[in-house]
Amino acid sequence: MEKFVIEGGKRLEGSIRVSGAKNSALELMAASTMGRGPSVIENVPQIADVETMIELLKYMGYEVSFSNGVLRIIPGKQIKLEAPYHLVQKMRASTSVLGALLARHHRARVAMPGGCNIGTRQIDLHIEGLSRMGARIGVSHGFMEASTDGLRGTRIYLDYPSVGATENLMMAGTLADGKTIIENAAEEPEIVDLAEFLKKMGAHISGDGTSTIVVEGVDFLEGAEHTVIADRIEAGTFLIAGAVTGGKVKVRGINPVHLDIVIQAMKACGCNFEIEDDSVSVSSDGEFTATEISTLPYPGFPTDLQPQFQVLLSIADGISFVTENVFDNRFMVSDELNRLGANIKARKHYAVIRGVKKLSGAPVRATDLRAGAALVIAGLMAEGLTEVYDIYHIDRGYERFSEKLSGLGANIKRVSVDTPDSNKWE
Ligand code: UD1
Repeated sequence: MEKFVIEGGKRLEGSIRVSGAKNSALELMAASTMGRGPSVIENVPQIADVETMIELLKYMGYEVSFSNGVLRIIPGKQIKLEAPYHLVQKMRASTSVLGALLARHHRARVAMPGGCNIGTRQIDLHIEGLSRMGARIGVSHGFMEASTDGLRGTRIYLDYPSVGATENLMMAGTLADGKTIIENAAEEPEIVDLAEFLKKMGAHISGDGTSTIVVEGVDFLEGAEHTVIADRIEAGTFLIAGAVTGGKVKVRGINPVHLDIVIQAMKACGCNFEIEDDSVSVSSDGEFTATEISTLPYPGFPTDLQPQFQVLLSIADGISFVTENVFDNRFMVSDELNRLGANIKARKHYAVIRGVKKLSGAPVRATDLRAGAALVIAGLMAEGLTEVYDIYHIDRGYERFSEKLSGLGANIKRVSVDTPDSNKWE
């Protein structure tokens, strides 16, 4: 077990290159299982979730190699059409192989994902959509057992623009008979990236990035080569970290359009920006004004940056309001931030944040990936020492997080929780 020990108060300055997007890489990996030949995916982040997906692909019988961010996936002779519980439980995104397996092999057995630390995460829209396409899906012994005589294209209206359901149905549609139309589809950049990869594999897709995606089924897909887009959530995390320390941080290799609403929200708090074609720089004097944010599907404010944004608002002058519309339990971080001296009252879907002058370091616990990142950011600007426990959550989604922060001047170290004197700063 490891923790981060952070000595707060260091101003972050410098630039980082943003890693490949976790949420895109995982879906591309699932999609690669539909190709008849090998796929090569570049700019894949070295994070625990990718390792779990590699484990899953290997379990299913794919040959996978991963080095220097390049992933090679080669179909094996015998494919096991199953995602077991021990892997799905580690990472819910493994349910994304459901659509791919059904489309390519007409059968799939995927463990039900179960509970989650940020709230209920239904899969009813995935199941309904695939059923409309001709899949028979039942639940038995904790597994979704799905089979089909061949998927058929159809019109599917999603009651909610679920990212995962859009991805699963888009993948399923690529090998279905006829045209699949997904209405009220999610519009996230990661969906466009997945569509780009599928098109390189031979799929016929249009409308990705809008609320109506049309997929014309083809007979087969080949392997393809693709480079993962940059991680807008990682980029946003570093911009917030730079701002709260009163620093100047540039994130490179990112499409600024993907961060538009986050930049607007940070500007409303008093942050300054310089935007170039593929980079965003933030600077701040560490003084902020309160604002309101509401999380929404893209292009709305991303729920995956909501906990980190709470940190900035915790020291903003005035009263801020945060409304969480995507998940139903994403305020667990508020109690931890209150341990650091913040004044946040969170109820079901909203939080009221009364800005305080400063935070003070203390031991805190990461309850999920983004909450963990938020606590590290809080530690960077809190007075004294902050210890963040359960950092395996952070390792799921941030590549070399502490190293990148150290490169910007942060005093952060990763130590075993059993190391004596681990809090001493040499
Ligand atoms: C993806 C991202 C995650 C991000 C989220 C929202 C990946 C691997 N993860 O998760 O980082 O926070 O999008 O931007 O890409 N819902 C239903 N029924 C369904 C599916 C979803 O009710 O069948 C609900 C969920 O319970 C949740 C909301 O819709 O409250 C959003 O879920 P969804 O958009 O599907 O998120 P994920 O794809 O799980």
